[in-house]
Amino acid sequence: MAQNYRITLLPGDGIGPEIMAVAVDVLKVVGKQLDLSFEFTEALLGGAAIDATSSPLPDETLSTCRNSDAVLLAAIGGYKWDNLPRHQRPETGLLGLRAGLGLFANLRPAKILPQLVDASSLKREVVEGVDMMVVRELTGGIYFGQPRGVFETETGEKRGVNTMAYTEAEIDRIGRVAFETAQKRGGKLCSVDKANVLEVSQLWRDRITLLSKEYPDVELSHLYVDAAAMELVRRPKQFDTIVTGNLFGDILSDAAAMLTGSIGMLPSASLGASGPGLFEPVHGSAPDIAGQDKANPLAQVLSAAMMLRYGLNQPTAADKIEQAVLQVLDKGDRTGDIMSEGMNLLGCRAMGDSLIQALEES
Ligand code: IPM
Ligand code: MG
Repeated sequence: MAQNYRITLLPGDGIGPEIMAVAVDVLKVVGKQLDLSFEFTEALLGGAAIDATSSPLPDETLSTCRNSDAVLLAAIGGYKWDNLPRHQRPETGLLGLRAGLGLFANLRPAKILPQLVDASSLKREVVEGVDMMVVRELTGGIYFGQPRGVFETETGEKRGVNTMAYTEAEIDRIGRVAFETAQKRGGKLCSVDKANVLEVSQLWRDRITLLSKEYPDVELSHLYVDAAAMELVRRPKQFDTIVTGNLFGDILSDAAAMLTGSIGMLPSASLGASGPGLFEPVHGSAPDIAGQDKANPLAQVLSAAMMLRYGLNQPTAADKIEQAVLQVLDKGDRTGDIMSEGMNLLGCRAMGDSLIQALEES
């Protein structure tokens, strides 16, 4: 009997539907090979949802996601919705989905592939061999802290407020995910905060230090976020696993991603304590190339692999997909964003076909 999984697909906006179509085809092929069956349900999120329902996260989407084994998201947003009020923006839908599914742990790997070393804007000797994981807290900190808003002062002047807050429990649960991730990787964890200035960061540092007693096999270090930003571009190879709060993680994970020079290659996973995880590329919806068959579908495909590995506990299927991606790169297949001299320039669809061929030959 085939193992059956219910997968919610959120193709979203921009290049989302194109890259999602490739990931779905890849999943079907791997499923057939390994006797896994996927029941896909599409739901609306972001701009697509705003257009259809006027809400960026319709209730139906949240309940469909909750009733599935995993959620695969492509990308959301675009110029068209940029000037809507905050509660109606595509990003608000994504934040609501993270909160609604309790996805407090965001895993963002940044690994330099040997085939793409020259795509980095940094020197080869600096980035060759970079392989890190940023563990970002995703449902707390300044993104969700209260009070928030724009208030009027006594003099009638407007004052914008957001609050960076973490409870001990919130720090501990992301800390545990990070220590466990480090255990499975290189055994090194760097916690990033701003404890020289912020009380919330001092609490963060104290709790992470306390937790480290339970993980004697993990070597813990701490960096202030400014120093971490500097070290990321100076000596990125020193990092194995990084753990940090929501805002610092947002910023540092983009920097880490860009070390690889190919943000179109990077997947991510968002996990909660229980229930379905959310898997999505690190890149955005690229509205400038939407509908032109130019997008790189590999981050989406690798997000499907992360879904198999972290969400569905099917590591063999994940390995197969990751191998196929390396194989097409070895063959010289490239989309525009990772193109270099002498390689074969392919569109989104053709890259998908090449992947499927690689899988079928494996
Ligand atoms: C990300 C994005 C989101 C974030 C935006 C789209 C709300 O930048 O996933 O990193 O800030 O978390
Ligand atoms: Mg971001």
